[in-house]
Amino acid sequence: MWQQLEVKPGQKVLEVGTGTGYSTALGAHRLGDDRVTSVEYDPVVGRAAASALKAAGYAPRLVVGDGLRGDPDASAGAYDRLIATCSFRYVPMARLHQVKPGGKILVTLSGWSYASGLALLTVTGPGSATGRFLPGYTSFMIARPHDRPPRPTLALLPGEERTSLVDPAVIGTWTGSWVAQLAAPAAERMGAGAEQILWDVSTGSQARTLPGPDGRWTVVQRGPVRLWDRVEAAVRLWQAADEPHQEGFGITVSAARQRVWIGTEDGPGWDLPV
Ligand SMILES: C[S@@+](CC[C@H](N)C(=O)[O-])C[C@H]1O[C@@H](n2cnc3c(N)ncnc32)[C@H](O)[C@@H]1O
Repeated sequence: MWQQLEVKPGQKVLEVGTGTGYSTALGAHRLGDDRVTSVEYDPVVGRAAASALKAAGYAPRLVVGDGLRGDPDASAGAYDRLIATCSFRYVPMARLHQVKPGGKILVTLSGWSYASGLALLTVTGPGSATGRFLPGYTSFMIARPHDRPPRPTLALLPGEERTSLVDPAVIGTWTGSWVAQLAAPAAERMGAGAEQILWDVSTGSQARTLPGPDGRWTVVQRGPVRLWDRVEAAVRLWQAADEPHQEGFGITVSAARQRVWIGTEDGPGWDLPV
């Protein structure tokens, strides 16, 4: 990831998610202790990382706090690079403001259906950035305040039934689940193969798919948000674009919205739940 960050000697880096301190040590080794700040949410983990880094002979600046807020002591544009080794539902704006225009942000975007994409963004101005998702299959634990809220045990309820226009198994694949998550970001996905469940606890909306007659698929939906209608429409757009892997997607961030798109900025896209 340090290579993917395109970091150069002399540049200042903010890392979110110190963890064991391993990646922090790599950064400090390459750039120097005074060039690296790392933020860790969990104080116990942060203390253990501090000891491990000291034992290994490194002394980068370590902060215990919520990396969503960036570095609490940094001014706007204080960093050239920002790297996150936990994932986010959207690009945290406080962190974006701490990277100078022309600087880069390497962040894994994920969500409540546990689908992920690693994006490299270039900061284009105060509060704005654009970039593309990278090849490969990167995933990280979701940042603590971005995790889904606790929910009760699932109870499947009756609803409206129809035939699905797409094979539900597609949302069990790496990129298909990513597309589904973009289309229904408040939902959690469960299930396997043709038997998929989407559940948005905040609205009580559910969608459930199952094999139907003649090799087709049935979907049952209930609640104010027709989750399968959204996912199905997104999957069809993605399929019409030849089903690219995440590297066929890009992201544009502004103060007003954060939009993930397929192909080019004016291609089909979905707003992140900012
Ligand atoms: C996959 S681990 C990081 C791995 C680490 N870079 C290493 O080399 O060991 C993710 C870390 O992110 C931390 N984390 C989660 N949410 C966070 C947040 N909002 N701010 C800062 N750290 C966070 C977790 O406590 C965990 O230690």
